[in-house]
Amino acid sequence: MAKIIDGKKVSASLREKIREKTALMAVKPGLAVVIVGDDPASHVYVRNKKRGCEEVGFNSWVYELPESTTQDELLALIDRLNADDDVHGILVQLPLPKHIDESIVTERIVPDKDVDAFNSVNAGRIFKGGAVLLPCTPAGIMELLKYYDIEVRGRRCVVIGRSNIVGKPMAMLLLAADGTVTVCHSRTRELASITKEADILVAAVGKAGFVTADMVKDGAVVIDVGMNRDENGKLCGDVDFASVEPKCSYITPVPGGVGPMTITMLLRNTLAAAKYIIQNDKTEVEK
Ligand code: GUN
Repeated sequence: MAKIIDGKKVSASLREKIREKTALMAVKPGLAVVIVGDDPASHVYVRNKKRGCEEVGFNSWVYELPESTTQDELLALIDRLNADDDVHGILVQLPLPKHIDESIVTERIVPDKDVDAFNSVNAGRIFKGGAVLLPCTPAGIMELLKYYDIEVRGRRCVVIGRSNIVGKPMAMLLLAADGTVTVCHSRTRELASITKEADILVAAVGKAGFVTADMVKDGAVVIDVGMNRDENGKLCGDVDFASVEPKCSYITPVPGGVGPMTITMLLRNTLAAAKYIIQNDKTEVEK
């Protein structure tokens, strides 16, 4: 029987710490969130981000721009937010309308305010070590491992998925924690023979039930980043939970595992950005 990793519990405990640290700051951390168009799911995410800010005592501003916004108008807003001393974190909700180049937009955010850690400077800092801002989903997974005292050092870690947002930075954070890391992807041959070696297996594939029991070693820690809908519209992960769970030592459920950590890590990044910008203090992430 696996121990279930409770992302809601860990998230609540970290938010409480963020709230306490925020209360000690002379200047409130401030997050600006920009959303373009009317994708309903994106609006729900943005509302939750704003609510998260309120919960921990941050300032927050939501800029809701119409679908017809031009790229230049969006870049002009980012320039204003880059220069605004009350704003310590800037997040542009993705996806953007097709006429706007996401890469140009995310690169325009000054690196020290890039709380998604999507731009190239922050990707480079993650690669080299010493980053102040970490991508939210991989950072949340590292916090889950830490909370449950799951050792990474020297252990075999396999990440399935090589996206810029999850797979690649996940591999870098596990490596920085002294794991022995393998990244698998859609062209990987004999995938199961590799995943079966994993002490820690991270699934970030985007396919419901992709990881089955025959792919998992007895006693492995299985982290499920998937957010898929099954044929009945029910939220489910990349891992076939029913068959995999009995083999694991620890496993994250979907929902309630990795998901609840993401906004909490955004809040931590905003606090870290504020501490760095205001007082040149890098300790929020280095702690
Ligand atoms: N859209 C879906 N997830 C994310 C995220 O983590 N950050 C941003 N900016 N947009 C998203």
